[in-house]
Amino acid sequence: MTRSRVRVALATSIALLVAGCGGAGGSGSGRTGGGKSLEVFSWWTSGSESEALQVLQKAFTTADPGVTFKNAAVAGGGGSNARTVLATRLQGGNPPDSWQLHPDQDLMSVVQDGNAADITDLYKSQGWEKQLPASVKAMLQKDGKYYAVPVNAHRANVLWTNPGVLKKAGVQITDSTTPAEFVADLPKLKAAGVAPVCLGAKDTFAPAQLLEVFILANLGPDGWKQLLTGALSFNDAKVRTAVTQFATTLSNTNSDSAVLTWDQAALQTAEGKCATNLMGDWAFGELTGKGKKDGTDFGHVTFPGTSGVFDFVGDAFVIPAHNAPDPKAEKAWLEQLLKPEVQTQFNLKKGSAPVSSQASLQGYPDYQKKAAKDFQTLPIVSSLAHAQGAPAEFANTYLDAVTSFLGSKNVDAFLKTMTSAQKTQLGD
Ligand code: GAL
Repeated sequence: MTRSRVRVALATSIALLVAGCGGAGGSGSGRTGGGKSLEVFSWWTSGSESEALQVLQKAFTTADPGVTFKNAAVAGGGGSNARTVLATRLQGGNPPDSWQLHPDQDLMSVVQDGNAADITDLYKSQGWEKQLPASVKAMLQKDGKYYAVPVNAHRANVLWTNPGVLKKAGVQITDSTTPAEFVADLPKLKAAGVAPVCLGAKDTFAPAQLLEVFILANLGPDGWKQLLTGALSFNDAKVRTAVTQFATTLSNTNSDSAVLTWDQAALQTAEGKCATNLMGDWAFGELTGKGKKDGTDFGHVTFPGTSGVFDFVGDAFVIPAHNAPDPKAEKAWLEQLLKPEVQTQFNLKKGSAPVSSQASLQGYPDYQKKAAKDFQTLPIVSSLAHAQGAPAEFANTYLDAVTSFLGSKNVDAFLKTMTSAQKTQLGD
């Protein structure tokens, strides 16, 4: 089955399931049973993700006690299942009150389809423009109008490590380690009796993100941006080097990678079953939320070769342009998201950096303080594995091509697929 067919089949079965549970409601009919409700759709179901979402829920229910908060999160890291369910609902004219997406290209596809409401009036009345960095603002607008409210800045290019395992293997990974050196050290880690790299490939974004950071390391931020516009070909020698390094890394991963989710892979690293794990810093929220201690249970370093760049994955919320169940409650919800104290509490749980310049970082762990500083000072690029950096069609081709590569390890086939997708799926 092709990926799109899998998606349609999955959407149908999940939609049936949801309908069967009576959980999702109909356009406006989610209000059955008398009371008012606000349905918020996301893919935040891991321990830290749920706790962070609860911070937003609490802010809303405190501000608007007459409206019940309906958590419509669909499990599946990176939103793989959630996106399918959402697409079906939008197509059927049955949007949730608000849904999660990424800024930049991910938002632009929704704006292009006419599904996200123009919320420029909220930006003006709330004074949000003054609080947000220019880089983020640019990713939330089309033709001078705003369409989404951002909640955080996650960094995708972080390598989580097990300090004890690295020590035992005599391997050091620092900000100046190159990707080639990292790959050359994998056998030493294996000799220490663990999987050198933990991969939670049950979440398709995880291997796609691992290859992404190898490419970013080899190309640098400018090359990465060119790759995503088609100005630099995937057939470039440096991309080939990256894909080859990725292939070698794949043969040094945990044997159960196909059944592990991103959070399980992060946890296994902290528990010493693996030496390293490449994951966005939602893993920091997840590990600390589970009581793991930074510096002893786990360590972190920017992925080799990428210390000078912030690979950005942001989360944001939109409200529907059409068939909006309750525009008043929806706006009241959005109004909570950039409040400084909400930003501080939410991001503390989530492992990310606040996006509002008014949010205090007091009491934040060192890792998050450093990430927040890096977000302000380093060049920022958008992640492809999370469909933030390129149009949905191209990002899907990339995810599919990486999934095929996990089985085939065919570098030429991968590069050919991506080079031809650059020609047909990028540009106007
Ligand atoms: C990303 C999202 C993060 C985190 C992660 C794993 O797409 O931006 O907030 O939830 O997926 O589910």
